[in-house]
Amino acid sequence: MKTIESLGDLRGKRVLVRSDFNVPLKDGVITDDGRIRAALPTLKTLLAAGAKVVVMAHLGRPKGEVNPDFSLAPVAKRLGELVEAPVTLAEDVTGPSAKAVVEALGEGEIALLENVRFDARETSKVDEERAALAAEFAALGDAFVSDGFGVVHRKQASVYDIAKLVPAAAGLLVLKEIESLRKATENPERPYGVVLGGSKVSDKLGVIANLLTKADMLFIGGGMVYTFLAAKGYSVGTSLLEQDQIETVKGYIAEAAERGVDLVLPTDIVVAPTFAADAPATVVSADAIPDDQMGLDIGPASRELFASKIAACKTVAWNGPMGVFEFPTFAEGTKAVAKALSEGGMFSVIGGGDSAAAVRLLGFDEATFSHISTGGGASLELLEGKVLPGIAVLED
Ligand code: 3PG
Repeated sequence: MKTIESLGDLRGKRVLVRSDFNVPLKDGVITDDGRIRAALPTLKTLLAAGAKVVVMAHLGRPKGEVNPDFSLAPVAKRLGELVEAPVTLAEDVTGPSAKAVVEALGEGEIALLENVRFDARETSKVDEERAALAAEFAALGDAFVSDGFGVVHRKQASVYDIAKLVPAAAGLLVLKEIESLRKATENPERPYGVVLGGSKVSDKLGVIANLLTKADMLFIGGGMVYTFLAAKGYSVGTSLLEQDQIETVKGYIAEAAERGVDLVLPTDIVVAPTFAADAPATVVSADAIPDDQMGLDIGPASRELFASKIAACKTVAWNGPMGVFEFPTFAEGTKAVAKALSEGGMFSVIGGGDSAAAVRLLGFDEATFSHISTGGGASLELLEGKVLPGIAVLED
């Protein structure tokens, strides 16, 4: 993997940096700036080296159209506070404003291009279209540093195509992410446990299939667990259920048994009649969810079961919350997993925007985990054993 050092002396050079600033916003206010903070080591290194730093990033999925709701303006402001220097935001992606802003940059100064996904070519499936946009990026920079770990699984102009046009290197965040995720996935110290949550089984099919051949224990929680419970023949009331995945999940349950993988499912569930923060919560056995109730978290016995088994692991990867942690009544399952990892002393990797946001929101000290990934889909694809285009393109 090429590193920033391979780019030589960067003083006065225009360095394009791809960061992942796809942060959650509520009414225009950033609710979790973890991804911006994670970008700082690379940005500060480049600024200290005297580079003229031009950051490329996306926010949401504006589908190739300019849409002020997806402007990077709030990010530029927060980034400026964190780097303690003004961050000029160009009004366009590669147009007259971007050119003028880059032209005006001095050594050790930083600018941000507007949301790269305002240009439809960024995410185009047509190679020539992406290459044309990448050529416009290349005209704005002398070198490229890929540091948006959360997007390295995307074959997109500012992630993949640009790396072919100017000298390219991996940033510090991308290097750290890959090192930690490989440590957890390629040759993990055993027992190796993986905790999966989040709403959809269908998002995690590849990863479950791959983990059944690698992990010693597989813990399932979150919205996806109800499809597992249904596959066991339990009725799940009005809980989230992917009917069309039940047969696949039955296959996983059988395969886990065959391979001796400990597939840990909750034995009790916190249910409520509606999806609301103030909905009255009741604990029921996992095989007795009433018809008019939905599961919103794993129950207290499951929390103890998960925590005690997690404590026995030497390596744990966790992706996806155990329940609706945004509502305090239904946050206990996610908290219990976070606590078991935080206190367990094992090598722990947390991936997925939601679980990373959960540990911060629930007040855990980030330093008590071995690694909190900034990647959602990207960290899942690494867990799945896939080759990611934005990483492959940086290999020596
Ligand atoms: C993410 O939020 O996981 C990354 O920023 C990638 O976003 P995307 O799924 O819209 O490509």
